[in-house]
Amino acid sequence: MKGRSFLSTANLSPAELQQLLSLSQNYCDVNNNHRLLPHKLLRGKMIAPLFFEASTRTKVSFERAARNLGADLVDLQIGASSIIKGESVLETARTLQAMAIDALVVRHASSGLPAFLADNLHIPVINAGDGWHEHPTQALLDLLTISQEFGSFAGLNVLFLGDIRHSRVARSNLFAMQTLGIKVRMAGPPTLVPPEMKALGAEIVRDIDQAAAEADVVYLLRIQWERQQSGFVSSLSEYSKLYGMDEERLALLQSHAILLHPGPANVGVELSAAAYAWPRSRIEAQVNNGVAARMAVLHWLLAGD
Ligand code: NCD
Repeated sequence: MKGRSFLSTANLSPAELQQLLSLSQNYCDVNNNHRLLPHKLLRGKMIAPLFFEASTRTKVSFERAARNLGADLVDLQIGASSIIKGESVLETARTLQAMAIDALVVRHASSGLPAFLADNLHIPVINAGDGWHEHPTQALLDLLTISQEFGSFAGLNVLFLGDIRHSRVARSNLFAMQTLGIKVRMAGPPTLVPPEMKALGAEIVRDIDQAAAEADVVYLLRIQWERQQSGFVSSLSEYSKLYGMDEERLALLQSHAILLHPGPANVGVELSAAAYAWPRSRIEAQVNNGVAARMAVLHWLLAGD
C-alpha cells in the first residue's frame, strides 16, 4: 500500500481489511494504555488535512493519529486559503505537493474529488468523506468497533437505519462488510433508501421492528440536511416515531446487540437521549477507535505494511 491513495473500501481484499484491522487494534491498545510508541514511524513527514466540509471527529482524529506517529501537520484553513482568491482545489493540492507535503487528507462535498486529485498527484490522497460517495476510514473504525465486540465478522447481521441515500458512511461500510461476510440490511423512509442499494448487495427491509430484533448491530444515520432539498421527510416527529431508535424499539434488540452511529447525532431525531446513553451503545468507542484506525491507514500509506 505504500505510496498509494486510500479512496474507497470497494477495492480492499479480505486480507487487506484484516491486516488494517489488526494494525488498528495494535494502535488502539497502545493509545488506550497511554503507551508511547518506541519510535516515531512518521517523523519528518508532513500531512495536510484539507477539509472543505465541517468536521469534528474525522479531522481531529486524523490530526491526533498523525501526531501520535510523529508526523507534522499543515494548518491550512480553507476559508483563509487562496481557494478564496479563486484557486482551484487541484492547484491548491499541487501547491502543497510542490512543498514536499507527504500526503493529503481530503473532505469535500463533491463525490469523486479525492480520486480526481489522486489521479493528478504523485502523493497519497486519503478520502475523509466525499459527498454522498465514500468515507473509507469511517468504515474501518466501525469494523474495528464491531470486531472488538464480536471477535469475527462472518454471519453477523447489520441493520443501517435512516438517510441511506445521502450516506457515504453506509456505502463504504456496505462494500467492506460484504467483503468480510457480514449481511447488510437497510431501512428508512422510502425516499431515503434508494433501490440501487439492492444492486450493491444490501437487503432493503420495510419491517424495522423485526429487522431490529434480528440485528447484531443497529447502525443509525443522521439525516444529511446539507445534501438535500426539502421534501424527503414529511415531519421530524413523524420521522423519529417511524424510523428513530427510542426506548420501545431498544427493548426489541437482542441482549448482545450493539448500537452504532458515526456522529454527529441529532438526539431527538434518529435516536432518543435514552438510546444515545444506552449501555450497549458503542458511539464513544467508535470515536476512540477513529484515532487508531487512522494511525493504521497513515502507517500503511506512508511507511509500508
Ligand atoms: C459522517 C460524515 O461526515 O460523513 N460523520 C463522520 O465523519 N463521523 C456522518 C454525518 O455527517 O452524518
